[in-house]
Amino acid sequence: MFKLQIIVGSTREGRNAEAVCRWLLPVAQSHDAFDVEVLDLRDWPLPFFQETIASVGDFSNPTYSTPIVKQWNEKIRQADAYLIITPEYNRSIPAVLKNAIDSVFFSFNFRRKPVAFVGYSLGPTAAARAVEHLIQVMTEAEAVPVRTSTLIPLVTTAFDAQGRSTNPILDVQLEVMLDDLEWLTRALQLARAEPQLPPAALRIRAKR
Ligand SMILES: Cc1cc2nc3c(=O)[nH]c(=O)nc-3n(C[C@H](O)[C@H](O)[C@H](O)COP(=O)(O)O)c2cc1C
Repeated sequence: MFKLQIIVGSTREGRNAEAVCRWLLPVAQSHDAFDVEVLDLRDWPLPFFQETIASVGDFSNPTYSTPIVKQWNEKIRQADAYLIITPEYNRSIPAVLKNAIDSVFFSFNFRRKPVAFVGYSLGPTAAARAVEHLIQVMTEAEAVPVRTSTLIPLVTTAFDAQGRSTNPILDVQLEVMLDDLEWLTRALQLARAEPQLPPAALRIRAKR
């Protein structure tokens, strides 16, 4: 089993993330390949980003600015794969989610690991712009994005009273996405077992 961390990227009171999770989590948890852990950012009150090379400290045993940032970096290290659930906020992702990703700082713990995306919004664009932006962010974090995202438009009508999706294409997207995530997780685990160069950011620093 691969360890899959599902990061819930919205924290506000009354969030529509609840309905998305209610539908998605049982599907991910019943997938043969994955042992699922939910990382709800409500449970991770990270400070607004303030790290520097000095706050990281000793790279082999980093301190970071506060203990919770260190714990967050260690938590992210434990996963083989990620699934990020995000709404669209002003054509991008919530600041709390960007902050959580930025806080994985100089540990490179997303590096060469796969990431899949579930986006939702009130409108017809279904967080497509947020997910495209998130793909850029996660690419810079050296994660490897899965091609197929699960995009949920009109989120307030996307699920019925039992939590089932009202549009069957969503179930298909989710299933295909999880299967692709499994394949990529296996491929990247094999790749990471091979000798690999240190992160480019460190090699560039060393040559300056
Ligand atoms: C600050 C903010 C900005 C938003 N910007 C967009 C947007 O650019 N595009 C869109 O389709 N919906 C936008 N929405 C609607 C959200 O996608 C929708 O409310 C969604 O349910 C938010 O997720 P949450 O309820 O889990 O926080 C925005 C909502 C908020 C609160």
